[in-house]
Amino acid sequence: MAERESVGVIGAGWVGLVTATCFADLGHEVHCREILPEKVEALRGGEAPMYEPGLSELLARNRERLHFTTEMADVLADAQLLFCCVDTPPTYSGDADLTRVNQVVDELGESVDHAIVMKSTVPVGTGRSVTRRSERLGYVSNPEFLKEGSAVEDFMRPDRVVIGTDDGAGGFGERVAALYEPLDAEIVRTDIASAEMIKLASNAFLATKISFINEIANVSEELGADVLEVARGMGLDSRIGPQFLQAGIGYGGSCFPKDVSALKQLAGNTGYHFQLLTAVIEVNELQKRRTIGKLQKHLGSLIGKKVALLGLAFKANTDDIREAASLVLAARLQGEGADVRVYDPVAGERAREMLGGAEVAESALAALDGADAAVLVTEWPEFRELDWAGEAKTRMSTPLVVDGRNFLDPEALRSAGFTYEGVGR
Ligand code: UDX
Repeated sequence: MAERESVGVIGAGWVGLVTATCFADLGHEVHCREILPEKVEALRGGEAPMYEPGLSELLARNRERLHFTTEMADVLADAQLLFCCVDTPPTYSGDADLTRVNQVVDELGESVDHAIVMKSTVPVGTGRSVTRRSERLGYVSNPEFLKEGSAVEDFMRPDRVVIGTDDGAGGFGERVAALYEPLDAEIVRTDIASAEMIKLASNAFLATKISFINEIANVSEELGADVLEVARGMGLDSRIGPQFLQAGIGYGGSCFPKDVSALKQLAGNTGYHFQLLTAVIEVNELQKRRTIGKLQKHLGSLIGKKVALLGLAFKANTDDIREAASLVLAARLQGEGADVRVYDPVAGERAREMLGGAEVAESALAALDGADAAVLVTEWPEFRELDWAGEAKTRMSTPLVVDGRNFLDPEALRSAGFTYEGVGR
């Protein structure tokens, strides 16, 4: 087997670590730079700093090929392809904050031997502005399409790999493509700006699909249709497809909310008003808040009412609470005077600070103790397995469930004496 090229990874966050461990698993030496010394220590000890299925196993299996350091010089000495995986949070204006990306570019300087391979989600035009600033540095756009909770699987079996370069980029594009060769995936070679746009447009399209089905759900509630049946019937049309048609409490997470706003803002900066995305964002915000109306419909005023939120993470199989509907709900419910108790199997501690004094319970049943209503926010399997008809019902003061994910069995709950409210059914 030809010797595999060493890989550099800048930033051991969620994208960086998945990238680093997966390339190590494909047989590459990986040199990963992370600025937080305590994180580097933990990683050297084989400890994953976040919950992602399969990641700890990959870290353990590839320990001898994974090198963690706080120093950029260590990485530059051993690797020429440098995957930039630092975060690009939104600024107040809705633009992406590129401070960390720019710091990395400045640290790399003008080396002709190195290329920055951009995995961080950046505005269209970033690659070209970096190449203007650091003319000699190679630049490859290689956006990530990983889903939290299945990121390792998504990395190893991608639907496609996008590689954007301008003017040949000194052969760096071919070298990045070669890294992905063992995955046997479709490789989309294109220019930098188009690669950047593919990432933003893909996330914006998926978010649009979710807001669309959420509106169909809301209208179905009024007209007596069942959105699950509607989505099933729509999804069988191969032009539509069944994925991302699950109506619910709105999308959250580190990507969709940020990327949809970034694309809208990017268009706005050029003078173009991206009307569709404005609606997608607004529908998503209203969707989280509709839960409050459903509770009020049954409980009247929420002042002094005890509401249990089941799930905090923005979706199951992650401890990520960024832009999670749970945070908006906890705040809104408290604003309405409700007494909020929350439970999540993995994200409880992480969220505690952001819950405005809501109590974090030790178990789902403890959260339901004396509750006037339960709101299912995250589709964790253990919530389906709860003994709803028995212990859960006994503990609650009022048997009312608002299922924000259409995750529970409405018939079973109703025949156990619950009032059940789903989304769009
Ligand atoms: C997303 C993209 O899918 C991924 O390609 C990109 O790289 C990062 O952003 P992720 O944020 O991990 O991944 O989550 P995803 O599974 O896409 O879900 C995003 C949000 O949409 C979640 O809150 C989820 O609950 C919600 N969702 C998803 C729905 O409400 N309905 C659906 O049908 C699908």
